[in-house]
Amino acid sequence: MKDSFNFIFIKNYVIFIIPIAYNSEFFVRVKMKIVLAYSGGLDTTVAIRWLSETYHAEVISVSVDVGQRDDFKKIEERAYMAGSAKHYLVDAKKEFAENFALKDVKMNGLYEEVYPLATALARPLIAEKVAEIAKKEGTEYVAHGSTSKGNDQVRFDLALKTALENVKIIAPARIWKMTREDEIAFARERGIPIKTESSKYSIDENLWGRSIEGDIISDPASEVPDDAFEWTAVRKQDKLRLSVEFEKGVPVGINGERLDPVTLISKLNEEIGARGFGRVEHLENRVVGFKSREVYEAPAALALIAAHKDLEKTVLTPLELRFKRQLDSLWSDLVYQGHWYEPLRNTLEIAGDEINRWVSGEVKLEVDHKSLRILGRTSPYSPYSEKISSYNKGWYPSDEEARGFIEIWGMHSLLTRKARYG
Ligand code: ARG
Repeated sequence: MKDSFNFIFIKNYVIFIIPIAYNSEFFVRVKMKIVLAYSGGLDTTVAIRWLSETYHAEVISVSVDVGQRDDFKKIEERAYMAGSAKHYLVDAKKEFAENFALKDVKMNGLYEEVYPLATALARPLIAEKVAEIAKKEGTEYVAHGSTSKGNDQVRFDLALKTALENVKIIAPARIWKMTREDEIAFARERGIPIKTESSKYSIDENLWGRSIEGDIISDPASEVPDDAFEWTAVRKQDKLRLSVEFEKGVPVGINGERLDPVTLISKLNEEIGARGFGRVEHLENRVVGFKSREVYEAPAALALIAAHKDLEKTVLTPLELRFKRQLDSLWSDLVYQGHWYEPLRNTLEIAGDEINRWVSGEVKLEVDHKSLRILGRTSPYSPYSEKISSYNKGWYPSDEEARGFIEIWGMHSLLTRKARYG
């Protein structure tokens, strides 16, 4: 009795289960899903097809808008023509401006004193957005277009590892052995449309700046050709005068008009760039152990950092100011080197916030003929006193006070010299 019951049960179970299994994907090989950070450039366009051919995968392309001046409709079309199964566009402009660009102002983020970190800052945010889509799509496979010689692979890989615990990263350009010409041929053979007109330079662009690389500028002794520049091509000959208003270390308005960060930065890029200011020429120490010739355009970033540094100088004590410059330099190195998720970055920013509590006020600037000058500044928290500093009025230490001060001020040096040289 018991046996026959079991038999019936099993028989029903088997009869039931076979059709379900047969119709489901159980017997069909499930395609692997790869989410690709897609810029629309040559490398990532070729990567869509290369990934799907090499891994028999379904490639999902993700473009993140961080303020680059691209036609995202065209990028989407190109993604589908290259073989993308699904395309996402994530608008991260506001987040990039608020949480990355404005931080760069507060921390005076300039790598090796000159590069305002536009590319370096955008990478963690792009990676986070791509990781979110990977989670949503239920896959651990994420791809990006970085090569094995650049800094970006370090930034992307570390950001992805932070955002997705078991992430499997594929960087096609680190695997394939294709030259730029090979890639173009690969695309042509498959009828994939690519942007070749700009192939002279490798460009990375976002709201905070434009980064230019390429063989044509790789000789550090040679002058950078004029056609490398777009944002700072001189379009206006007149003098631009403007004031930038800061609150607690971040810019909040121009000429008395309050502006949101995206508008404020875009406006400054346009107006200051039109006067030809904002170029950086740099022989840079990469994370990956070699020096490389890099060129940047970042009119808003350079102007805002110059103005902010000036305001810090106006408000802070000399000790605070010197300490802050050390924080700035450490912070810039961390960001450049892909250590966005290093706890020290947060610590430095907390100190930066605290020091910037009083960095409010206004800085007046003048821009023309590729140069920028600071004309003046005011802050309600400036300890500057004309009465104290003026030669003609107010405070004067007496001769006796001055002598006593200098005597004690120089005592260390005088005593030490005596001990050494007699
Ligand atoms: N060297 C810069 C950095 O590491 C910019 C790299 C930009 N990439 C480019 N294709 N232009 O942040």
